[in-house]
Amino acid sequence: MTDALNDLKPGRVNMKGLLAEFSTLTTCQAIGRVEEIHATTLTVRGLSGVAGLGEQVAINTETGRRVTGEILQMNQSTVTIMPDQNLEGVAIGDEAMLLGPNTIAPDNSWIGHVIDPAGQPIDGSFLMRGSKERSLRNAPPNATKRRALGARLETGIAVFNTLLPLVRGQRLGLFSGSGVGKSTLLSKFAKGTQADVVVIALIGERGREVREFVDSVLGPEGMKRSVVIAATSDQSPLVRRRCVLTAMGVAEHFRDQGLHVLLLADSVTRFAEAHREVALASGEQGSLRGFPPSTSHMIMSLCERAGPGEGHAGDITAIFTILVAGSDMDEPIADILRGVLDGHVILDRQIAERGRFPAVDLLRSVSRSLPEAASQEENEIITQARRLLGAYDRAEMMIQAGLYAAGSDPVIDASIKIWPALDQFLSEDESENCSVSFERLKQAISPALE
Ligand SMILES: Nc1ncnc2c1ncn2[C@@H]1O[C@H](COP(=O)(O)OP(=O)(O)O)[C@@H](O)[C@H]1O
Ligand SMILES: [Mg+2]
Repeated sequence: MTDALNDLKPGRVNMKGLLAEFSTLTTCQAIGRVEEIHATTLTVRGLSGVAGLGEQVAINTETGRRVTGEILQMNQSTVTIMPDQNLEGVAIGDEAMLLGPNTIAPDNSWIGHVIDPAGQPIDGSFLMRGSKERSLRNAPPNATKRRALGARLETGIAVFNTLLPLVRGQRLGLFSGSGVGKSTLLSKFAKGTQADVVVIALIGERGREVREFVDSVLGPEGMKRSVVIAATSDQSPLVRRRCVLTAMGVAEHFRDQGLHVLLLADSVTRFAEAHREVALASGEQGSLRGFPPSTSHMIMSLCERAGPGEGHAGDITAIFTILVAGSDMDEPIADILRGVLDGHVILDRQIAERGRFPAVDLLRSVSRSLPEAASQEENEIITQARRLLGAYDRAEMMIQAGLYAAGSDPVIDASIKIWPALDQFLSEDESENCSVSFERLKQAISPALE
């Protein structure tokens, strides 16, 4: 474990990496020819006997462009390819070279860098391949052998240190409409959560946002322990979909060295949308609000790969963001995810509009690591705080309209007394630890318990 940690020095180039680079070179390459070109796919003849589904192909055009793509469909004589880039300049008869399975070979030296979903640096640096090729569709750890959820983590955010604890190996979803603070909250987790390595997938963002996230939000301090994998919104759906799969592969690389990895994906909705585009192009029919049936399997198998490891492996603690239009939690992607996660946090627009961030709607949010994640005394504080918040919530409209008569309900009276302190607590950062957060929460609600 410490060896693995010591090895995480940014920019380290080793012999193993160099040999791994050489091992990717082959002496012969299967070549086919472009036969048909459609709007979003193309057909190649000559690779059917040697290629496999999902493998990578590169087309060299007469104009000198190289267009890569993935095999989506095959029959006895042709393969259908979806390109990673636009098809400008691709002509009938162009050479199509089979590159082989879609894999990545992460290396510890990738820490501190921004890479694209193919594992290539996009921050102007040079990066070595690791010594082990990993499939982008790895299987999750054996369900009967993987550990149970681990110990509570320090998050640097008061509400997540107390009322909604995050434990090692937990998978949490952040749900909200757009502009309610998911990405900002995710960046707080990136900076403040206890972990050896942080792997961040930014899917379908604008280019400017990726730059901003790396330079200003994460900053040099946050980048020291992070690998960022980014696919911008203008890239092909294949590349956007691959972004999360690559991030998961990178997280697994560090997990297998016994490390604790924090995986952050923003957003799973964009991942599902990219998958929808790929699946529809490969001939699948849309069903759930246009999402093809394979969407739920795609999301579930992704989530299953995160979580506690088995044997000497470490754990992947994962936080996914989910965009829910109009805060509709029954929307298909939100619905699939809620079922597979160990907790969901709902961010509320009204709370954000009155300026409280993170805008967590505590009464609708759940962390399934409770009650084990907290001591008996802490669980009692959590129950009291939830009871008071619930009472205030039920009576809020009456209170604000001046219709609530003090003395009618002792619990509501108590909740009114502590409300400002509790509301303030929910927005606080935590510079110390979970025990200190609990102490402050206890103080905030104590006037109600007198
Ligand atoms: N912790 C915060 N403090 C202050 N403002 C915030 C905070 N979190 C979010 N915001 C405001 O909300 C806006 C949208 O946040 P963002 O994280 O981009 O939302 P989302 O990812 O849900 O679309 C930000 O530009 C900022 O104005
Ligand atoms: Mg966002």
